[in-house]
Amino acid sequence: MIKNATKIYILAIESSCDDTAAAVLLNDSVLSNVVANQEIHQQYGGVVPELASRAHQQNIVPVVSAALREANIDKNDLSAIAFTRGPGLLGSLLVGTSFATSLALGLDIPLIDINHMQAHILAHFIDEKGYDKPTFPFLALTISGGHTQIVQVDNYFDMTVLGETIDDAVGEAFDKSAKLMGLPYPGGPLIDKHAVSGNPRAFSFTKPKVGGLDFSFSGLKTQILYFLQNNTQKESDFIAKNLNDICASIQYTIINIIIDKLEKAVKQTGITQIAIGGGVSANSGIRNALKESEQSKGWKTYLPKFQYTTDNAAMIGIAGYLKYKEHISPEQKFINEGLSAHSRLKI
Ligand code: KG4
Ligand code: ZN
Repeated sequence: MIKNATKIYILAIESSCDDTAAAVLLNDSVLSNVVANQEIHQQYGGVVPELASRAHQQNIVPVVSAALREANIDKNDLSAIAFTRGPGLLGSLLVGTSFATSLALGLDIPLIDINHMQAHILAHFIDEKGYDKPTFPFLALTISGGHTQIVQVDNYFDMTVLGETIDDAVGEAFDKSAKLMGLPYPGGPLIDKHAVSGNPRAFSFTKPKVGGLDFSFSGLKTQILYFLQNNTQKESDFIAKNLNDICASIQYTIINIIIDKLEKAVKQTGITQIAIGGGVSANSGIRNALKESEQSKGWKTYLPKFQYTTDNAAMIGIAGYLKYKEHISPEQKFINEGLSAHSRLKI
């Protein structure tokens, strides 16, 4: 049953990796945005898929209940349920997919499947006081633990991937470098923190040579490994003594790689509006470099609020709302019967 109303309440569920998240939106505004992080993975230095799936099963009911409670609405008032279909870890996606499907069936309301990578981009359309939304067309740089893409966005659901990583994602480059320095998982935010007090030009790393708008980060990781091994052989406490400078230099190299590719993308498309998304878009160095590019390069940049950078369900909710509005005819089915999680779903 499709509820025809001006007030659309969407319950959104995100479970693609290691965060169990639920949010409630009223049209394009967020009423609640709840995330349960899974600490279990820290001791393994990375996400363990089987443990993630089990933790989602434990978290999903309390997280959804908290989202409804914080939004102060009853489940019977919901207009639709949006969920992450992919990409992500299959076992994790299945928990959100089956929970969302059962609840939508039970409540007899539409079920809306959402692409996680599109949602990172559509997070820019959440209504927030004082936040200026991008206009079409714009370029989106989605940088996370699993993905690195430059996407041309011509409309809400009309997106073209112009370039992406051919090996590791930016977040992996941060996390794996941090691991080599003995920092806990996820190391990205820690590198950011130490980089603030370091000299970005203290050590230099070469940038990978990858054609077009594609990225590569696995070579940088190997360079950092040898750099650390060589220096600790000469001086056993090299890392501890130079941690801030090493972090600043790694971050500086990554920022340069990203800005170079964005410059190419702007040249290729003529589009100068750039929106960033994904966990790594919380990085202060990347945010500063993009803000600075408004002056130096004449770009207009859009930086999401911190709560919408790392995985969250509010971004799934806004994508769900935008899809709901496009499919408002009563006969329209939102998704095909039998549709299930898709770990390699493409934009
Ligand atoms: O989008 P996200 O929460 O999950 C995925 O879909 O992968 O991104 C997580 C990634 C991790 O690699 C984490 O280290 C990185 O985002 N990250 C950061 C920062 N905050 C999160 N990397 C660098 N600087 C940060 N401040
Ligand atoms: Zn993500």
